[in-house]
Amino acid sequence: MRSVPRAIRPTVLEAARAFPAVVVTGPRRAGKTTLLRQVFPRATYVLLEDPDVQARARSDPRALLEDLRLPVVFDEIQNVPELLPYIRARIDHAPRKMGQWLFTGSQEAPLMQGVTESMAGRAAILQLLPFSLAETDGVSLLHGGYPEVLARPAGRGLWFSSYIQTYLERDVRAIVNVRDLATFRRFLALLASRHGQILNKTDLAAPLGVSVPTVGDWLHVLEITGQVILVPPYFENFGKRLIKSPKVYLGDSGLACYLLGIATQAELDRSPFLGALFEGHVAAEILKSQINRGRRKELYHFRDQQGLEVDFLFPNGQDGPWMVECKAAKTVQPYMAGPLGSLRRSMGGEAPVRSSVVHRASTTAPPMRALAPGIEALDVRAFVDELNGRSARSSKAGAARRRKPK
Ligand SMILES: Nc1ncnc2c1ncn2[C@@H]1O[C@H](COP(=O)(O)OP(=O)(O)O)[C@@H](O)[C@H]1O
Ligand SMILES: [Mg+2]
Repeated sequence: MRSVPRAIRPTVLEAARAFPAVVVTGPRRAGKTTLLRQVFPRATYVLLEDPDVQARARSDPRALLEDLRLPVVFDEIQNVPELLPYIRARIDHAPRKMGQWLFTGSQEAPLMQGVTESMAGRAAILQLLPFSLAETDGVSLLHGGYPEVLARPAGRGLWFSSYIQTYLERDVRAIVNVRDLATFRRFLALLASRHGQILNKTDLAAPLGVSVPTVGDWLHVLEITGQVILVPPYFENFGKRLIKSPKVYLGDSGLACYLLGIATQAELDRSPFLGALFEGHVAAEILKSQINRGRRKELYHFRDQQGLEVDFLFPNGQDGPWMVECKAAKTVQPYMAGPLGSLRRSMGGEAPVRSSVVHRASTTAPPMRALAPGIEALDVRAFVDELNGRSARSSKAGAARRRKPK
């Protein structure tokens, strides 16, 4: 696969101008090492997964640091948290030298917490997730966004199975006590079957014969490692009682399809999970657009006890919230605007709210059109263009899509 430019690049450069250190965290194989090596080609590179380097870092950290030419990329810093206090001392010795210490870390919670604490105020912390649709057209519901899956789609089954074995299990084990890996596997499959639903930990724990706190721990680890998305409810007060639990999604739709046993596009098209998978894909695109610009993740769902549901709400800069209803259909119908219209009315129509029905792209339907007063239909590609300020894509098709009729 050709090297794909990463949307987070300007954010990394900006962070390196403003902070002595930059930490890029995120799921394994998302492209963290490649990103830092491409953005800082002249930096010294130290892989802290190498046992010799680890031994040296532990036995004589000062010597290791003094011998380095800065800037330096420390790859997988969670392996040698012992280095951090020494690095901090070096930073505090020359606090105005920016962008000298560049780290990647796969968020193994206690270790990464050490990074966060010892680097407080000295480091910008960024998260890199797998490719978004704004970065490459290769991203799809079936394949998700991991670079290696997109490079070799045919090997996807094998890739995901070894990914789960090598990383998910290892990372979860490093943090919480997983006594029985077979149960953890079943947990992942069960979680995939709950994709897009309101999280109910009891309902996940019972069939597996584990405790509710155990399920909570596993979910927490998967969330901080960027594997699971939890979307909390929106709590603006409309004088209604709202559902309080988050909705849960696997972060990568390719991994979700793999766990659900969906192996082909045809199987995906007739899967009962199609709608939920599409919704999760849209959620991931929204979060990626936020974190690639160095913003906080901010995504909510809306569901009240009268049964009014809107899939997602998130801040849209000066323009107030943006509400999105996801439809896996390729044909949009006016009735699909219903819930958005109701929620707009209950918000009093004062706050400016952008409202979109986001649907799967089709070659024969327009990417964008008005559906009802104040409510537009956008196909997922047009939506991603809009999310990322339109300049993110430069293809001809993107340019055509961007010519939005006023
Ligand atoms: N921007 C990119 N374009 C194309 N392939 C990429 C890109 N970033 C990463 N990859 C590929 O994805 C795989 C994982 O990347 P890597 O940087 O090692 O991930 P991480 O450090 O997050 O584990 C590698 O095979 C790499 O070549
Ligand atoms: Mg790496």
